[in-house]
Formats: sequence, structure tokens, C-alpha cells
Amino acid sequence: MMITAYFWLFTLSFYCHLFVTSSRHKPISTHNYSAFPDEFKFGVGTSAYQNEGAWNTSGKSPNIWDFSTHNQPEKILDRSNADITCDGYNKLEEDIELIAQLKVHCYRFSVSWTRLFPMGYVTTVNPDGVRYYNKVIDLVLAKNITPMITMYHWDLPQSLQNLGGWANPKLANIFVEYADRLFALFGDRVKVWTTFNEPSHICKNAYNGFSAPYLSEDGIGTYLCGHTLLRAHGKTYRLYQRKYKKTQGGSIGIAAETDWYEPLNASSVADRRSVRDYMEMNFGWFVHPIYSKTGDYSPVMRKRIDFVSRAQNFTHSRLPRFTKQEIKEIRGSYDYLGLNHYTTFLLTAAGQNVPATPSYASDANVLLSQDRLWELTGWENFVVVPEGIRYLLHYIGQRYGYDIPISITENGYAGAASEDINDDNRIKYMNGYIQQVLQAINEGSNVVSYIYWTLMDNFEWSRGYTLKFGLYHVDFLSANRTRTPKKSAKVFQNIVVTKQVDNTFDPVEFVH
Ligand code: BGC
Repeated sequence: MMITAYFWLFTLSFYCHLFVTSSRHKPISTHNYSAFPDEFKFGVGTSAYQNEGAWNTSGKSPNIWDFSTHNQPEKILDRSNADITCDGYNKLEEDIELIAQLKVHCYRFSVSWTRLFPMGYVTTVNPDGVRYYNKVIDLVLAKNITPMITMYHWDLPQSLQNLGGWANPKLANIFVEYADRLFALFGDRVKVWTTFNEPSHICKNAYNGFSAPYLSEDGIGTYLCGHTLLRAHGKTYRLYQRKYKKTQGGSIGIAAETDWYEPLNASSVADRRSVRDYMEMNFGWFVHPIYSKTGDYSPVMRKRIDFVSRAQNFTHSRLPRFTKQEIKEIRGSYDYLGLNHYTTFLLTAAGQNVPATPSYASDANVLLSQDRLWELTGWENFVVVPEGIRYLLHYIGQRYGYDIPISITENGYAGAASEDINDDNRIKYMNGYIQQVLQAINEGSNVVSYIYWTLMDNFEWSRGYTLKFGLYHVDFLSANRTRTPKKSAKVFQNIVVTKQVDNTFDPVEFVH
């Protein structure tokens, strides 16, 4: 057993070394910090649908998650929904106090599109929505915490889904109008914006049956959706530069997610090529058009989907094409890169050259697995491999440039439903990953912030309330939705305050 464990550790460091020495980009500078630098920011994150509840309060209309949890409850593991969830809408003051107790520098949250604009269009603004988010922002700022707004964390207005959702190219302009109103309403105080949370998750899972709105058309709708999101992102960024940058001075990015991947067999050239190509098809799907020097879809992705589409008798590639103007508009449309990262996989080629039916998975053509010695969490596949985040940060530096500022917009531990407030496993995960981020910074990675996911246990999408990612425990059986700090909340507070990971730190209680 031990021999295998060491073997994998060796494989990990060897593979990273390959990336570091074989690339065009070199780290800009290296350091020897024992603690995170003064300007480094720590934060916590939440999302509107997962936390707010109040699904139909004061004029809010249904989004795709309200609609699908109400109409297809069987899609959620415990048949639950987020009608009330943490009741964050009604417990705002208390929650901001909990955030402040962590001593964090920033708070990442998303706004609910249909709370602000119940029609989906900006034709009608809901005064209660504006009041509510003004209050969130003002309370956060009053605690000296920087608000970071995610414009879209998966909760599309159902009215826009009825028009075809993100597969409809018209949604790009509808999103830009929405974003324009957000800047106008809140941009005087909000300086950090994320357009989309996990665009590849949005598009893959809408069409493969994993997430609302639970559609099929896998491998077709998937790329139409991605195309609209990329166009919407590029246009939003350009609009901000033209109309708001000078007066508001904020920064904009996208939160792209990826796991880290290791070749199943480190000495297999084919497996290593699979890792390289899958990074282009998955992370690169959204990152290449925005963050690469050349823009457009990655040539690897273009070649593979064009080839498979032709072989499947499609007259056009299932991966749409940008106009020259769009490539230009999207390329460089960022101030920072948001990175959501949780775990690591092993990867080998699936060897399915031309699959009979289109799907994203068969286009990607890989088989994922995990080492059985990697430490498990409450969610199968969310295994603990702290080094993965460091290798990933170097991959990004090598592939897209070490100059791009990176905000780790999500990283967190999936606790089982039975988890109690003595969450030592979460502490181990957090300490391990954060320590690796510091090491990556010392090795030249340009990470500027780390946002722990998530503030409190909440509605975990298709897993309902069966998983817990929070620093605070929430009693979903009590009407009051009582929040209790877990041990990890105290450890995280200590990391934020000392800017250091201390594996020996034994929390007693919050330092007020
Ligand atoms: C999402 C979060 C989610 C977390 C854990 C991320 O993909 O952005 O909303 O709770 O993963 O599954």
C-alpha cells in the first residue's frame, strides 16, 4: 500500500516538473514567503440560489432551478429544493456578522437575476431586489469587506429558458443588458465582477442530464450554450471598458473550473497527450478564447469536434465559429482569472475515435479514474490531492502566462451529511490546499486571492442537502435555520489573520 502511495506522489512531482521546464512562459518572480503577502486577500463565497431562499418573495419570479426542482423533484437526490434553504434573504444581518467574524477581506456572492428583473429582461426592475442587494453591499462594506459579485451562478430566468436558454444566441445581448444594469445599480460600490460561474459546468450539465434545466442534445446544445456565454462575456467586458471603467474602476473576470489531471500511466506518451488535449477541451474551452494570446477556440478542440462532426455526417461542425470581430472582442476580455478547483483525476484515452452519437464526453474521448489511495471525502470523486492545485496553477502560468492575476474563486471540502462541527477532515483539506497555494506563489504563480467555498452548508444542487461544504453548520430542521461555527471556521479565521497555515493550531473559540 505505502509503496503505491509514494509512487503516486513521485508521479505527481515528476509530472509537474515536466510542465515547468518545457514551457515558453517563465514565472515573473519567485519568493520565499513563509506567510501570504500583505496584499493577498482571503474570502468566503455563496450563491443566490443555494443560500437565499425566498424563492417567490416580493416579486421574484422563478428561475430554472425553481422550475425544475418544483416540476421534477426526482432529479434531486433527496427530492429537496432551495425554496427556503438557509433563509439567507431573511437572515442577512446575521450572516454578514458571521462573515465578519471570519475576519475575511472579501465576500463573493451572486445576484439572483429574477429577484432583480422578474421578466428576465431589464424592462421591469423589482424594487425589492434592488433594495436587498443594496443592503447586502452596504452591510459588507460597513464591515470593511470587499464585495465581489458573480452575475450568473446558474439561475437563469425561466422566461429566458422558454426562449431556448443559452443555446439561443440572442441571450448574449440580453445578458449584456442585464450586466449593464448591474454596473449602473451597484458599480459605484462593487469593484470586482465575475460574469459567469463555471461556464463549462453550465453548458455540459444542462445537456447531459446532471443539472437544471435537464435537457438532452448533448454535444450540440452544449457548444451553442458555450458560444453564447463567451460572446456575452466578451461584450460585457467591452461595455464596461467603454461605459464604466473610467468612473467605476472595477475589474472583471470569469470563474472557470477545472480539476487537475494526471496521466494514468505517467510514462505513457498517449496518456500524457490525453491530459494535454483534455485540458484544451475542458478548461481551454472558455479560457483559450479569453486568456490566450491568439484567442478563438483552442486548435485542439476545433480539430477534434470538426473531425467527429464530419464523420457523424453533420454538414457543419457542432462547435460554432466566431466572427473575426468576436474573436477580437473576446480575446483579452479580462482583468483577472477566477479559478474554481476541488480535486484531481487520473486520465487515459478512451480510444473512441468516432462515436455514433454526439456528446461532449465522446468528443473529449477520455476515461477518468482516481487512485484508490487518495483520501476520500463525503462525495465520491472529490478526493483530497492538495498538490493538484499547485500543479494546476503552474499549468495556467505555463499555458497562458504567469502575468495573469488569479483569484481562486472556489475551493472547499465536501463533508458527508453526517458531518458534525468537529470537521477535522475539512481542516486538513483546507490547510493542505492553502499551503500549496502559498508554495505556488513562492514559485512564481500570480495568485492574488483565495475564496473558501462555502460560508455555510447550503443546497448542493442535484445532491440537495446530502453534502456539506460550509464553515458554518446550518440546522435545516429548525425553523430558525440555526448557524453554528464548525472547528474549520476558527481555523480559517486563524489563517486569514496570520496569513499562514499552522497545522498545530488548535482552536478554542473565535477571537473577537
Ligand atoms: C459550484 C458551487 C457548488 C460547488 C460544490 C461548484 O461547482 O460553483 O455552486 O456548490 O461546486 O459542488
